[in-house]
Amino acid sequence: MVLSDRIILVTGSSRGIGAALARGLARHGATIIVNYHRSKDMALAVLDEVKKYSPESSLLGFDVGDKEAVDRAFEQIISGYGRIDVLFNNAGIMKSSQIEGISDSDTFDIFRTNAIGSLHCLQAAILSMKKMRSGKIINISSISQFSPFYRSTQYAMSKGAVNMLTRCAALELGEYNITVNSLIPGIIESDIDPRYDDPALMERMRKIVPLQSIGKPETMVGSAVFLASDLSNYITGIDILVDGGFSLFKDKNPQ
Ligand SMILES: NC(=O)c1ccc[n+]([C@@H]2O[C@H](COP(=O)([O-])OP(=O)(O)OC[C@H]3O[C@@H](n4cnc5c(N)ncnc54)[C@H](OP(=O)(O)O)[C@@H]3O)[C@@H](O)[C@H]2O)c1
Repeated sequence: MVLSDRIILVTGSSRGIGAALARGLARHGATIIVNYHRSKDMALAVLDEVKKYSPESSLLGFDVGDKEAVDRAFEQIISGYGRIDVLFNNAGIMKSSQIEGISDSDTFDIFRTNAIGSLHCLQAAILSMKKMRSGKIINISSISQFSPFYRSTQYAMSKGAVNMLTRCAALELGEYNITVNSLIPGIIESDIDPRYDDPALMERMRKIVPLQSIGKPETMVGSAVFLASDLSNYITGIDILVDGGFSLFKDKNPQ
């Protein structure tokens, strides 16, 4: 199996895309550290499924925005498994607001999780990866990093920062044989955006996706396996869009 012997942390794997990645990567042989922040019961259920494929997998709750908690978590990973091979920076939150309504506290929360949380985990992961002179970091970004949606300013700003994290880290870490890439989901069914609960809006969105369907969290697994495996060893600093062609459409904001 392409991911045999890989130790992989997926942040925010209690639900949504992260949970699907944890299950899918385990099916390809990886040992998974399932991370949660608030949804411990859901994370335990994900771990149960993951363990059917990789019994050495484990659960680790921490807030990616809390640097000390992140550092402690990585110390635990290294003392338990001896190393970390792959980090998926998947934990993320979004809030929707018109520009006049944007509050500092919401903006701070979004940056703290999406951008600074990804940086914290990357900083902690490379301590061990640099010693091994190998490692793979995959940031889960968003189409918002290069193409705006209405009422998503703070989220898009935070994903723009993740975009630059991918590029800057790929540049700096290449000499240690550490690759840094990003996966860009299109519209994927999950809890992240309350607007996804509106069936009429989702139907309008579905029709403008060239492949004519809304993605499922499992849709992300194939490219995740590719970026986590040796198949992608000479690839760094790139984005892989997994969006059914959605980014090709000019007006992604049907009202
Ligand atoms: N779904 C989409 O259409 C879409 C599109 C583009 C990009 N994305 C990106 O894909 C990633 C996953 O999103 P999703 O759609 O799967 O969202 P989701 O269903 O809302 O899940 C978010 C996950 O992030 C975790 N999380 C939130 N804050 C955290 C923190 N401070 N520390 C650790 N974990 C934290 C949550 O854990 P707890 O529940 O345990 O707190 C949960 O597991 C995000 O980065 C998102 O921006 C999603």
